[in-house]
Amino acid sequence: MHRSSRRTWARGPRMLLEVEDLNVYYGAIHALQGVSFSVDQGEIVTLIGANGAGKSTTLRTISGLLRPRRGAVRFRGEEITMTPAEQIVRLGIGQVPEGRRIFAPLTVRENLEMGAFTRKDPAEIAQSMERVFATARGLMSRPTLLLLDEPSMGLSPIMVEEIFRIIAEINLQGTSILLVEQNALMALQIAHRAYVLETGRIVLQGTAKELRESSKVKEAYLGLPKEALAAEGEAAVSPD
Ligand SMILES: Nc1ncnc2c1ncn2[C@@H]1O[C@H](COP(=O)(O)OP(=O)(O)OP(=O)(O)O)[C@@H](O)[C@H]1O
Ligand SMILES: [Mg+2]
Repeated sequence: MHRSSRRTWARGPRMLLEVEDLNVYYGAIHALQGVSFSVDQGEIVTLIGANGAGKSTTLRTISGLLRPRRGAVRFRGEEITMTPAEQIVRLGIGQVPEGRRIFAPLTVRENLEMGAFTRKDPAEIAQSMERVFATARGLMSRPTLLLLDEPSMGLSPIMVEEIFRIIAEINLQGTSILLVEQNALMALQIAHRAYVLETGRIVLQGTAKELRESSKVKEAYLGLPKEALAAEGEAAVSPD
């Protein structure tokens, strides 16, 4: 049914994912209210925002688990808005959902345990293990684009550093990444570009550097006090 609506890029071959005017509801709750953004080939793009902003909803819509009432998702020029989820994976979009728990074979686990032999805290090691499995599982389909939903959630600062290093490495190996995070500080360190989502709308967008320097982002997402920001200019651009 969507074969007829397929089209090719008007905006060049570098654009990998294009999300346009997504409107998603849970019953009467209007969770996404016209969300538009894009991911280019080779990029890490981060979508940051507070609890309930609509980050997971956005990822679930891209991966075909939720259907928008209005709007479109295009991947490599092809409309995938209504494409079944398993076919979306086959097209090259892998997803690591929020807080995923994974069963893994012992041999792989043992291997990873050896990698953690210098560490003492069993709970922390188990947590690392879980994240590594979840990330690896997302990579098994050899995705062109990897969707990551809050990979740093609940991890200790050292583990957060580690997981972000892995994400940057995966990107260097050629996988484009859409990273959803509440940890704006870390996300803006590894991303090329970023979008800020607030209650279902993109309220700010720019390069990661522009957003790191934006007083609004510093105040709302990087936990810096207003007074310290008074002298600084607004670098990031609002969506048009
Ligand atoms: N299954 C659901 N049924 C009803 N409402 C939902 C459901 N899932 C999410 N919502 C609502 O939709 C909005 C967006 O939720 P979403 O989970 O996408 O936010 P999020 O940005 O991922 O938040 P978090 O950082 O807490 O993961 C919120 O108001 C949330 O309460
Ligand atoms: Mg979420």
